[in-house]
Amino acid sequence: MRTIIEPFRIKAIEPIRMTSRDEREKLIQEAAYNVFLLPARDVLIDLLTDSGTGAMSAAQWAGIMRGDESYAGSDSYYRFENAVKDIFGFSHVIPTHQGRAAERILFSTVCSTGQTVPSNSHFDTTRANIAYVGAEPVDLPCVESRVLADPHPFKGDMNLEALQHLLEQCEPGKVPLVMLTITNNSGGGQPVSMANIRATSKICRKHKVPLYIDACRFAENAYFIKQRERGYEDVALIDIAREMFSCADGCTMSAKKDGMANIGGFLASNDEQLTREERNLLILTEGFPTYGGLAGRDLEAIAVGLYEALELDYQHYRIISTEYLGQHIAAAGVPIVQPPGGHAIYIDAASFCPQIAPLEYPGITLTVELYREAGVRAVEIGSVMFGSVDTESGQEQPAPNELVRLAIPRRVYTQSHIDYVVEAIVNVFERRDALKGYRIIEQPALLRHFSAHFAPL
Ligand code: F0G
Repeated sequence: MRTIIEPFRIKAIEPIRMTSRDEREKLIQEAAYNVFLLPARDVLIDLLTDSGTGAMSAAQWAGIMRGDESYAGSDSYYRFENAVKDIFGFSHVIPTHQGRAAERILFSTVCSTGQTVPSNSHFDTTRANIAYVGAEPVDLPCVESRVLADPHPFKGDMNLEALQHLLEQCEPGKVPLVMLTITNNSGGGQPVSMANIRATSKICRKHKVPLYIDACRFAENAYFIKQRERGYEDVALIDIAREMFSCADGCTMSAKKDGMANIGGFLASNDEQLTREERNLLILTEGFPTYGGLAGRDLEAIAVGLYEALELDYQHYRIISTEYLGQHIAAAGVPIVQPPGGHAIYIDAASFCPQIAPLEYPGITLTVELYREAGVRAVEIGSVMFGSVDTESGQEQPAPNELVRLAIPRRVYTQSHIDYVVEAIVNVFERRDALKGYRIIEQPALLRHFSAHFAPL
């Protein structure tokens, strides 16, 4: 059979509320043209994020029911710890309420003012947690990632020469660790090859700097390695995952992605002394080391979900269905980051509506139009999210790219939902010449994309 189907049946459904174009026009105006300010009940297809928005399996819900809520040493904790050790191979595991809590604990323990933390590309919370302790996050993405339309198979790779150069130039102790984000979310959901993970690890070991993996979408990365890297065709996803993590000294994880859970995360490493210090911080702000800010039932859902993410049929459906969206809009001429990523499709809004200048926020135009057209919610990843202000001139500087991300929640939407999204995007594309930009009329000092108010130009 050539038809690829969702490898599950649907047992519980959640109605979505239909809205008319007139209603949406009023709602988006009331939300000051910022889709973050829309109530979720007014959204038909929500592609804002794939984080914590997935549907759990029957096995996960069964786990929820047997959650052991003991404060210390619950059975659920041991099931969680066994799963993490089995897949990731690290000897010390610290549960946290989500990925950024693991980042905060890690960087407040190992990192201090004046240090530098290189990565293929830091996610924004990672970047913020490094900056918060006075250190500098540095992105070293591979050169292939610069051309959005180039379909290179591993555009998430670390730029090895740049990493080597940085570590050679730095005085000892300047770099407390190197991060590798798999898949590379900020770089378009693109995977990192095993060859690149190995080579990064070799460079780090030569310079005696620990390598940490930001593991949020580790199972999707493993699937891309199986599909695209020679020698891995017949290797099980779990073994690819084990091999990836064997190259690293530790990892941070948001279980809201490839943990297939609605909340949770962890920090893991092989360093006993470091773990002791991290646990002290954990107790201060997250909770006792055997629950770390999570309920026992959440630990159960993660213990089951980590294995489900590594099931081949699931990943096959996951990656093919994301690609389906990308290929259908690309076939209609919509410019996207190529090749399609694991968890999301990124539209190149600057090429979509070139008449809108970067500081008139073409990504905002596109998110507003997708909502108006069909009630679809996407997110701008461009100058509103990543623009900066020049400290000398006070001038706003645009971000390097104006993207709009359509992130696909796990196991939530069917192919007809995606067909509906394709139609919406193509309809907006057909009237792209008439689109106009936006200006900001109100914004907070930090993380402005979440709450800024806009007005049409
Ligand atoms: N690292 C990566 C690569 C991420 O994508 C995220 C979250 C985090 C760390 C932080 O994890 O949310 O559990 O604290 N990404 C979400 C997104 C929010 O929409 O891409 P968290």
